[in-house]
Amino acid sequence: MKSLAAALVLLAASAFALPDPGFDGKPEKTAPVVQAKASAAAISEVDSRVWVEIEAPGKAERQTAVDAGISIEEVKPGMAAGFATPQALERAKAAGLKIRTTVTLRQRFGALDFPEKDAVYHNYKELEADMRSLAARAPDLVSIFSIGKSTLGKDLWAVRLTRGAKGTKPSKKPGIVFMGTHHAREHLSTEVPLLIAKHLVDNRADMEIARLLETRDVYFIPMVNPDGVEYDIEGGKYHMHRKNMAKNADGSTGVDLNRNYAWGWGGGGASPNPGDDTYRGPSAFSEPESRAVKAFVEARPNLKVMISYHTFSELILYPWGGSDEQIPDAKALAAFKAMAGEMAKMTGYTPEQSSDLYIATGDTCDWAWGAKGIFAFTFELTPKSMWDGGFYPGAGVVSRVFQANIRPALYLIDLSDDPLRAVKGASVFASTPASKSSGESTK
Ligand code: ARG
Ligand code: ZN
Repeated sequence: MKSLAAALVLLAASAFALPDPGFDGKPEKTAPVVQAKASAAAISEVDSRVWVEIEAPGKAERQTAVDAGISIEEVKPGMAAGFATPQALERAKAAGLKIRTTVTLRQRFGALDFPEKDAVYHNYKELEADMRSLAARAPDLVSIFSIGKSTLGKDLWAVRLTRGAKGTKPSKKPGIVFMGTHHAREHLSTEVPLLIAKHLVDNRADMEIARLLETRDVYFIPMVNPDGVEYDIEGGKYHMHRKNMAKNADGSTGVDLNRNYAWGWGGGGASPNPGDDTYRGPSAFSEPESRAVKAFVEARPNLKVMISYHTFSELILYPWGGSDEQIPDAKALAAFKAMAGEMAKMTGYTPEQSSDLYIATGDTCDWAWGAKGIFAFTFELTPKSMWDGGFYPGAGVVSRVFQANIRPALYLIDLSDDPLRAVKGASVFASTPASKSSGESTK
């Protein structure tokens, strides 16, 4: 992991100097690149996508890029960067965008053999095993069940924490759901909800946590896209895969699950081209994974709050993502802003409306809020940029990122009975709890 940033810099530097060294199976001169060759073989010949940096003084350019089918992953003053297929890159150029640099995936990521070093991250089987052992540890509080099957037939596991109800038994307690890995390569977004669930179980004797587990119905779906995750780590190499594993009509693979939800589906920022990283799918809820989330939510009218974890950029996003307009309900908007602002203080992340980044339709949280009235946040976790590790920041960040995100999780679980309370700062987990009426020394 430590060598990641250095490797990236080296790779990028050499990539910028040489247009594309090409993969011929022969070792190169410098040590890091020799290392690169070993693992480049697995992805080089099959993946024609590039990492592209675009001159983007403002949102207009970002939007043009997104609308051309580029998945923007990073925004900095004056520039935006993300993944593009050769076709999307051509569309972006045709739309008049200035391309600063492009780097093939092989050039930029070929050296990164860190799956071995990243053993701390959970693959599908390990996740399932950990969830089961969690349930075994506190059977009175924890249950696990499947919310449906993935494209390739894997169970989509959910873990539930609450006292007094197990499995899919309905509850009238206010509910909250934490989801991870809609996007395959965003592995940290599986770890964070899993670690939050573990923390709650391990600290169930803590007074505040005991109260939350008594009075709230708490769900975790840490891996919404297990097929994509398994493919992304296949062969001990990373494949930079974002989408699910659907076979598209044109022979390409994958639908962007975070463009496949029904709210605003088919609008801006979601590609109609199957080969693009942001392909929205043939219709809203065309994918078994998004359909399973829909069915899960619809079966639980007690759900009031949702977090969908993604990586990376260190942002806390609230609806709308599919439109520049603000959500019409002024009280709810004030609550969204208060919660995002409070959680930004806890994490150091930046709070903003999703569409401030760029408009993208069909995302999970627009649907959750628009169709179901659930206070839904997209968290873009660590790191801040591609240069700090991007999607693969290594094993070393996991516990730190969990530490940063546990308090926002407790805060939202607490507020899930009435998220509008956020406006008054009324949570024991807020940085400045407004009311001391419930007793000062409960901890
Ligand atoms: N980066 C994430 C994605 O591309 C988050 C998108 C948030 N929504 C938005 N409309 N900007 O799916
Ligand atoms: Zn994502």
